[in-house]
Amino acid sequence: MFRRAAVEHLLQNLLLPLLIFSKLSESSSEHECKCVLFNVTSGNFQSPEFPAPLEGVPCLFYHFQAPPDHIIRLTFDVFQLPPRIGVCSSSIMLYDHSIDGLIEFGERADFEFCGKEISSGRQFFSKEQHFLLQITSAKEASRGFRGSFLAIPKKNFTSDAVEMAECSYRVEKQKAIIYSPQYPYYYPSKVNCTYHIPQRKGFQIVINSIVMDIGRDAILQIFESVEGKFEKRLIEMVTSVQKSIYVSSTSSLLIYFSAGNNDVERAVGFVIELQYSNAVWSQSPEAASDCQLNVNSENFKEGQLSSDKIGRYTSSSLPTKCQIVLQGYPNEKISVKFTHFNLYVPDNKNVTKRCTEVDNLSADVRVGSRLSRIDEWCGKRTPPNLMSSSNLLQLEYNTKSSKAIRESTNDDIGFRLEYKFHTDWNMGNMKAKVDKRKECRFSFNSSEHTNGKLWSANYPGLYPRNVYCEYIFHGRNDQVVHIHFEYFDIEGFNQCDETTQSDYILFSNYQTHDRTNRRFCGKTAPKGPILSESNYFRMIFSTNDIFDATGFYAHYQFITQEKSQISRVKLTISSSQTPFSVIFFVILFSLFFVIF
Ligand SMILES: *[C@@H]1O[C@H](CO)[C@@H](O)[C@H](O)[C@H]1NC(C)=O
Ligand SMILES: *[C@@H]1O[C@H](CO)[C@@H](O)[C@H](O)[C@H]1NC(C)=O
Ligand SMILES: *[C@@H]1O[C@H](CO)[C@@H](O)[C@H](O)[C@H]1NC(C)=O
Ligand SMILES: *[C@@H]1O[C@H](CO)[C@@H](O)[C@H](O)[C@H]1NC(C)=O
Ligand SMILES: *[C@@H]1O[C@H](CO)[C@@H](O)[C@H](O)[C@H]1NC(C)=O
Ligand SMILES: *[C@@H]1O[C@H](CO)[C@@H](O)[C@H](O)[C@H]1NC(C)=O
Repeated sequence: MFRRAAVEHLLQNLLLPLLIFSKLSESSSEHECKCVLFNVTSGNFQSPEFPAPLEGVPCLFYHFQAPPDHIIRLTFDVFQLPPRIGVCSSSIMLYDHSIDGLIEFGERADFEFCGKEISSGRQFFSKEQHFLLQITSAKEASRGFRGSFLAIPKKNFTSDAVEMAECSYRVEKQKAIIYSPQYPYYYPSKVNCTYHIPQRKGFQIVINSIVMDIGRDAILQIFESVEGKFEKRLIEMVTSVQKSIYVSSTSSLLIYFSAGNNDVERAVGFVIELQYSNAVWSQSPEAASDCQLNVNSENFKEGQLSSDKIGRYTSSSLPTKCQIVLQGYPNEKISVKFTHFNLYVPDNKNVTKRCTEVDNLSADVRVGSRLSRIDEWCGKRTPPNLMSSSNLLQLEYNTKSSKAIRESTNDDIGFRLEYKFHTDWNMGNMKAKVDKRKECRFSFNSSEHTNGKLWSANYPGLYPRNVYCEYIFHGRNDQVVHIHFEYFDIEGFNQCDETTQSDYILFSNYQTHDRTNRRFCGKTAPKGPILSESNYFRMIFSTNDIFDATGFYAHYQFITQEKSQISRVKLTISSSQTPFSVIFFVILFSLFFVIF
């Protein structure tokens, strides 16, 4: 309420300062401009004194300022200034690209309008947070203008696709909208963008334009291709005259957008809606591979791959970059296990340190909407088991050696792997109850097992990125639980907090979030067993989107409290110097003898 009131206040009072201003301006410098700031997220604007005629305003700015990561939209409702006779006598000038709300003295405006040049309903968007509107009006009377403004989050115009590289996207959703770069602002000149929409068995892809204004110098092409095949067929070529498209296909589609020069024409580009809709599937041809092998989980949830299968038809002896893209349904995760790994290393190279200049294999997983590199491997350094926490895992096989060399050695050069798509964390052996409502929550109930093992997802391989897993222990009323780590490798250091971008383990005696407890990370396991205060205990394992390690392996045991006497040891005590914890360990060790 207050915000809106503030704008109206500004507008109502506009009249007064203006009168003062026009008097002042007669005697003062011509370049002195008054500026009205509109720093709320929505409202109306109008020419001073509207609907009274606009006249005698030598220079006035309206500065629309949106919150960070928002842009401004201006919508005109009325616009009527004296007509343009060669030049505009009175006009408004729009500056839509200012990054800081300032413009240079004498800077050319992005638009200048007078007469009835802005039709009712016409919209303008700023590139960034700021939009400046300058009013210059001579003595000649006119009606003036009126409109509304709105701050819109930039993310409203972010394509529903994963950015694989600079302006190269892969669509993963059942239904998605893709926007040309910088939309709704005009697209930058000379960019090339690619949008890959992979085929899905039983579905056809339907593409429909919502906005199509690609400009004279730009080309938008749509190709059809079969996953795993190199050839592609042009099915649609859009030029500036075409204002809409509709395409459907059961094959994969590739949309190429090549921008050309757009600095003068300022075309906005496109908004395309695409959707997978049910279709009768025509038998997919055998996926013969070239240098990109796409594996999805439509038909098989697991399988094997070998480096022999990729690049089979690339006879070239030049370096190649072949990709294996494993993509599951949105709720699936992917695990990869290497069963053979021996990449070619020339005799004169030493790969103990780095993989540059030799054949290598890298792995990336999708984290959010970006690909995140896990690591690179070469020589005989076999990658650990890999698991994604999302539905996309990509391997890239870079070869510098020629195919002939690789095939002529007797060393079984290349790699073989097994992959698996799964919706759970693949931790059935842990015998924990999995909470289906939570992304990653395991519960251990002492009525079912009084002791057992627990470990991190994918142990002993690298744990996945960006996971938040809870291990919950429910004992009987008189029980506590202790957890003893046999293996511990959590990427992080110092206090394991956000400033060090560490992954961590944290224990809590409460169901609610408690920040006071100590975090554990690094390669040294917590000393001695960790004990709960009561029959409820919660262990949190949280990982971020950079760097990984191999996780943990621990065993737990529920013990009845009479035996233990130690239920009061608080986890917040982190200093091992206190006599209290010495006592604690002594009791604990005697306890071990009682139990085992
Ligand atoms: C708008 O600007 C005024 C004056 O500069 C300032 O006092 C106010 O806090 C600003 N409001 C917002 C929402 O930024
Ligand atoms: C921006 O997106 C939000 C959430 O999807 C929606 O509610 C809002 O109407 C959108 N704003 C505009 C101006 O499109
Ligand atoms: C975009 O593609 C065109 C034509 O294929 C090419 O000439 C141009 O160099 C490319 N631009 C960029 C920035 O890659
Ligand atoms: C490779 O480098 C390591 C360490 O620099 C060294 O110990 C090893 O002997 C080298 N091997 C060869 C084959 O040069
Ligand atoms: C992997 O090999 C390619 C091609 O030889 C090379 O460009 C790249 O730098 C290598 N990667 C690493 C991490 O060394
Ligand atoms: C633990 O298991 C017992 C027996 O199956 C059950 O009665 C109890 O509700 C469970 N406790 C929790 C917290 O799930």
